[in-house]
Amino acid sequence: MKPETDAVHDGPGVSRRNFLGGGLVAAAVTPLLTGQAEAEAAEAASASATDGGGQATVRAVVNGDPVTLRVDPRATLLDTLRERLDLKGTKKGCDRGQCGACTVHVDGRRVLSCLTLAASTSGRAVTTIEGLADGDRLHPVQQAFLDHDGLQCGFCTPGQIMSAVAMLDDERSPRSDDEIRERMSGNICRCSAYPRIVDAIRDAQQVMR
Ligand code: FES
Ligand code: FES
Repeated sequence: MKPETDAVHDGPGVSRRNFLGGGLVAAAVTPLLTGQAEAEAAEAASASATDGGGQATVRAVVNGDPVTLRVDPRATLLDTLRERLDLKGTKKGCDRGQCGACTVHVDGRRVLSCLTLAASTSGRAVTTIEGLADGDRLHPVQQAFLDHDGLQCGFCTPGQIMSAVAMLDDERSPRSDDEIRERMSGNICRCSAYPRIVDAIRDAQQVMR
């Protein structure tokens, strides 16, 4: 099932050197694109200035850092974050919009980075799991996942946390455990840590009120 995502981006710890350095080399990221991604690629290619080599220039804010990057117009945000910016906290599960492991925020709204083109994030703020904490102080949702042991292997956890943060930041906060489960249904946990994930989100909601 597809997560209740709204958009795609944002996060801290971005290495501007890597960002700019990566832009000097033709992007080698050529993911298997879905029809949606291909359509976005065509749109991004037409909307973005591309150079003679067919690269698009993206200027975005990632985890609070302004970054400029030349990308293949077909590159996904997920691959760009992981391979160009070395932000590996965002996980690649299905790579086709079905598991939620790749959830990040774009302009504060959750999106599936595997279905989002990096070129489409120009002028926007992208936040990844690396950008959630305030220095040494974890975000309340991160802390709640630790307190409730809301994970087993941990592979789905960054996506779960990013999705939960966007849901709790939404003006329509969930009013029941059932609603939490429904609105988190796009984030799959193969370890079935769901009961403790719900416990963690419910407690974080109290802290964030
Ligand atoms: S939904 Fe993006 S990796 Fe599964
Ligand atoms: S903790 Fe293993 S997939 Fe969720």
